[in-house]
Amino acid sequence: MTWMKILMKQMSNHNAPLITLDGPSATGKSSVAWEVSKRLSLKFLNSGSLYRIAAYYVYSKKFHVDEIEKITDQINKDNISFEINTSSDSYSIQLNGVDICDKISNDHIALIASKLSKDELLRRALVKKQHDFYQLPGLVADGRDMGSCIFPEATFKFFLTASATIRAERRHKELQNRKIHANFTEVLESLVKRDEQDATRSIAPLVIPPKAIVIDTSQMTMTGVVEKVLDHCCINERC
Ligand code: DC
Repeated sequence: MTWMKILMKQMSNHNAPLITLDGPSATGKSSVAWEVSKRLSLKFLNSGSLYRIAAYYVYSKKFHVDEIEKITDQINKDNISFEINTSSDSYSIQLNGVDICDKISNDHIALIASKLSKDELLRRALVKKQHDFYQLPGLVADGRDMGSCIFPEATFKFFLTASATIRAERRHKELQNRKIHANFTEVLESLVKRDEQDATRSIAPLVIPPKAIVIDTSQMTMTGVVEKVLDHCCINERC
């Protein structure tokens, strides 16, 4: 079936296409999801940034990590969007119109985000926020529970994985490229700790969603993964 036919089928079902990519940190899922959303002209949601923004409030608003109600009220008030970053050909995360990528893209914020993400109240507050991103002409969403909890009805579900060492190498290189000093062992330890926190929490833990296509990205380039995802969605030239 061509992508157009799939699209028509979904639209006639009053459902726009929905593609989810889940997986542990540094598997490249947000870069892949962003590229796929651009290639298919669909909307994009990087759900991890919502949890990172919740963690960022601990610093910017001086909220305590236990003040979940204050954090959820704030996140529901704030406008979060993803815009093209023309200088890097990637996306920027905007909080009320201001690019906050630099403020939330560090391992310290990521660990707090992972801790906060265990909280049921916060997770519940974020469900509607995430559903609101699902609009015409459709959505590509990445995270930990996109295909399992937030969008179980997704048209296509993917689960990206890679060995911890390779993921830590990628993360370390990314930090170096951004001129952020990082020790490889610390990066690896932080990543393993976060994997454990995300996979063992009682609410919406990181799991392979039912019917998800598993892609081991260890030996693949980002472009290779994008092509594979698009192949599965049946939109490339061979379809
Ligand atoms: O994808 P990320 O590394 O930006 O995510 C940061 C943390 O947020 C992650 O360690 C766990 C949490 N998270 C989550 O619980 N559910 C999601 N859908 C996305 C992220």
